[in-house]
Amino acid sequence: MSKAIALAPDRWIPGGTPDPLISHRHGHIGRPTTRIDGPLKVAGAAPFAAEFPMEGMVYAALANSTIAKGRIVELDTRTAEEAPGVIAVMTHRNAPRLSPPPAFMSSPKAAGGDSLPVMQDASIHWNGEPVAVVIAQTQEQANHARSLVRVTYEAEPAITSLGAAKARGSRTAMFMGQPLHDEVGDADAALAASAVNVDASYSTPRHNHNAIELHGVTVAWQDGVLRIHDASQLVAHEAWTLAQMFGIDEDKVVVTSPFVGGGFGGKCLWQHQVLAAAASRMVGRPVRLVLSREDVYRLVGGRSNTEQRVALGADPDGRIKAIIHEGVTPKTAFNAMPEPFILPTRSAYASETIKLDVQAVELDMLSNTFMRAPGESVGTFALESALDELAHKLDMDPIELRIRNEPEKDPTNGLPFSSRHIVEAWRAGAERFGWSARKPASGTVRDGEWLVGMGCATATYPYYRMPGGAARITLTREGHATVDIAAHEMGMGTATTHTMVAAERLGLPLEAVTFNYGDSTLPGVVLAGGSQQTASIGASVIAAHRALVKELLKLAGNDSPLAGLKPDEVGGTDCGLCKLDDPALYESYASILGRAQRVSVCVEASPSAPMEIMHWSMHSHGAMFCEVRVHAVTGEVRVSRFLGSFDCGRILNPKTAGSQFRGGIIMGLGLALMEETRFDERSGRIVNPSLSEYHVPVHMDVPEIDVIWTDIPDPHAPMGARGIGEIGITGTAAAVANAVFNATGKRVRDLPITLDKLM
Ligand code: MOS
Repeated sequence: MSKAIALAPDRWIPGGTPDPLISHRHGHIGRPTTRIDGPLKVAGAAPFAAEFPMEGMVYAALANSTIAKGRIVELDTRTAEEAPGVIAVMTHRNAPRLSPPPAFMSSPKAAGGDSLPVMQDASIHWNGEPVAVVIAQTQEQANHARSLVRVTYEAEPAITSLGAAKARGSRTAMFMGQPLHDEVGDADAALAASAVNVDASYSTPRHNHNAIELHGVTVAWQDGVLRIHDASQLVAHEAWTLAQMFGIDEDKVVVTSPFVGGGFGGKCLWQHQVLAAAASRMVGRPVRLVLSREDVYRLVGGRSNTEQRVALGADPDGRIKAIIHEGVTPKTAFNAMPEPFILPTRSAYASETIKLDVQAVELDMLSNTFMRAPGESVGTFALESALDELAHKLDMDPIELRIRNEPEKDPTNGLPFSSRHIVEAWRAGAERFGWSARKPASGTVRDGEWLVGMGCATATYPYYRMPGGAARITLTREGHATVDIAAHEMGMGTATTHTMVAAERLGLPLEAVTFNYGDSTLPGVVLAGGSQQTASIGASVIAAHRALVKELLKLAGNDSPLAGLKPDEVGGTDCGLCKLDDPALYESYASILGRAQRVSVCVEASPSAPMEIMHWSMHSHGAMFCEVRVHAVTGEVRVSRFLGSFDCGRILNPKTAGSQFRGGIIMGLGLALMEETRFDERSGRIVNPSLSEYHVPVHMDVPEIDVIWTDIPDPHAPMGARGIGEIGITGTAAAVANAVFNATGKRVRDLPITLDKLM
């Protein structure tokens, strides 16, 4: 099928004929627009999941297991039950019977982080698994009583070290139903025959999610309907999955999530939502369950560690002849998320031979999950560090080396690129950053006790659009439009940007458009993940708008100046419709609906299946530039300047897009320099579950970050826009590591780059 789609003429494919509105502009798209939800947030009037008031609400707190594998043999809840304010203690003995969660991607709306049963029996699967839920009148009473739950375990041998897991054997990892294995030609032979080569091992540690907003839910059963106020990046998936678990109809679960304080892949379905719903059913009261920061480390999966090898072979003139990128990463037996670190290498450089492989091993641990640019964030660290090592060996400028190996078409699947202007991004970035001032020899620039260096790296993230999008548009005679779609605002600007997108298409001012989202009862099954939500919403709004235009033309009839025009010839403008290439042919919405004696018109539509990703190789691109200062005595690294130069198609809202890029880069600085989950390989327990011991960048760690972009629309993406949410974290760690090498001559291949590695 994918072969047939690749061979089909462009016009058979969604996006094959570029959206006419890519060039027809009303002024909303591309204008820096301030968040419409900003005033609400500043005033504290935006309700987050743990802030919804409910009549008669009680509070829950969790007790967690302290072994990685085994069984509960004694569970003494009496003292906890007798503690002040305690209403009940739920354990596997009295919890409602539930089906296990369908794991993410096991069916279209499955949301489970894994497929383990939730508090249904005495078995323990990871160190930190919930063993009891205390429900009390106040949060403080619940927190106190959870410390009184006494558990005795019978431990079983657990695999908690990567070494032990590797010794047990590995297999080629599967990601989204595809093996993480690609071979083009004979890369081993080509590497051996190459005049110049590098062959190095890189490692990256575990990372944990630390969104500012803690995971929390407020849950109630009202007349047989389970109502959940959650912080979610997949409301429709979550509602369906909970319905499966509780054995009720899908329409008996309503998940709302109007505001989310950061998602990054971590705000999907974990045990806390299920336990809160079960506890609420058990006590017959609304329940609020907010995870503590430590609970987030115990219950919400993070990014797993990787051991990677990158080998590159090249001609003396820098033409790459062989790329090998392979390695190992852990997962559990219950989830399907091997960290897919080879993904960026698939389409990075022209090479006659390529060999890519991820081996997965299984550990007894909390299921790992998506964390901003799973695969690309740590995969680009290895790949782009190796490119820098090759440039050094060739005595060639690292930017010129990359440009020399720019592919004509996708080197692993042979597809044409939908739009790839990475060379423009490199040139513009180098100019703006002042790259020509860089001294190629390491350790030559000094400012007092500080060694100064510059480094660069390629950033990349795929364009995705998942099936399931849908949107409803209601247009009134007064010229107000309401757009309904079960999408998500996690702080990135969705509500603002898609108000702009709808207003642009309808030819309305921003104030005349209401964008409703964050509610599972709205149309569409949309994931705010994979940097694909904008494409999914955009395609849905385009489909619904087309249906609306059709309907309006029908209502306009023969007495309209628009009579006889086809939907594709017509666009929205000045609160009405006009012929796109002859705007004088125009009629206002008020006039069309008035003559038809209608107060409003409402349409709902779904876009085509996302076949464009099987017909073109579609990726966002970027060029990252970093300047560091490394203290010659202490090894301290300070990032003094950073520039991201992006090629992500059309930028819809430069203001929120700039923040997305900067936020990604800041997360990349954490990945480069500080983030590291300390996982005790003896016990399988995370020993630094707090922001005092798990370090993320603070303001003092972040320099002024400059971001620029090509703004060249991708003719095959809805609105010309590819994703921007994750690309900022990619390439960043390599740009830092490469700058550190330029400053000091020390090559750190093991993240994070802490001062002990530079002393
Ligand atoms: Mo992202 S890791 O797909 O939320």
